[in-house]
Amino acid sequence: AKDEPLRIMIAGAPASGKGTQCELIVEKYGLTHISAGDLLRAEVAAGSENGNLAKEYMTKGLLVPSEIVVKMVKDRLAQQDAQENGWLLDGYPRSDEQAQALEVAGIRPNLFILLDVDDEILIQRVINRRMDPVTGKIYHLLYSPPENEEIASRLTQRFDDTEEKARVRLLTHYSNVDAVVGVYKDVMQHVDGNRPKLEVFAEIDKLLMDLQKKESEESTRR
Ligand code: AP5
Repeated sequence: AKDEPLRIMIAGAPASGKGTQCELIVEKYGLTHISAGDLLRAEVAAGSENGNLAKEYMTKGLLVPSEIVVKMVKDRLAQQDAQENGWLLDGYPRSDEQAQALEVAGIRPNLFILLDVDDEILIQRVINRRMDPVTGKIYHLLYSPPENEEIASRLTQRFDDTEEKARVRLLTHYSNVDAVVGVYKDVMQHVDGNRPKLEVFAEIDKLLMDLQKKESEESTRR
């Protein structure tokens, strides 16, 4: 039998490194990366009705109402690339309600990664994060600076990346994370995200290799 594609969730506080690790995971494993924050930012940029409403919440560092996010993510998961390549869900689900909606739809990960990072490190990462609007790549002015002057001159900052807003996003995270973890504790792995990004990735890579091995052994038994 053919191996089932991987289904991975990655969670963690704002700036814990979810997007950074997703870039590395996608490069090696070819999973379809679905970031709730990126999908929302695309709606905001498109100026859609949902986008305008979402921006009010995102600017405040609060969760966007489930009426907007649940369908948006479910539709994206149902697309062919995610079904064929497997998926990597980033920043979703973020509340008990969102997790339950996935459970009802029979959508479960085979691994739930929780990145643990200390608060003061998170704030430093938020303040110095920059994005390249051309490639979508994430930089950090100190830890992953841009490769050249041309890139450096076009970097942008996210509208919710101020210290004040990041502190609210942190509180939002802490008040919801336990409920989500409760749903996935059977497949959850903590990863210490305080370390340099390649060290963090080495640990995630090992988890994914072990998982692939296990899945492939199970599929030969089927
Ligand atoms: P979202 O876009 O998901 O933001 P977030 O959770 O706050 O996470 P970030 O994107 O800020 O951080 P990240 O963990 O991806 O870190 P990154 O890799 O960039 O959500 C934004 C908003 O959308 C929410 O506030 C909410 O309003 C709404 N929303 C999203 N999902 C929702 C949902 N499910 N329901 C309702 N509303 C939702 O790294 C950060 C920086 O650190 C970078 O500069 C990077 O270069 C650097 N860095 C990363 N790793 C390391 C490392 N190991 N060492 C040193 N530097 C590092």
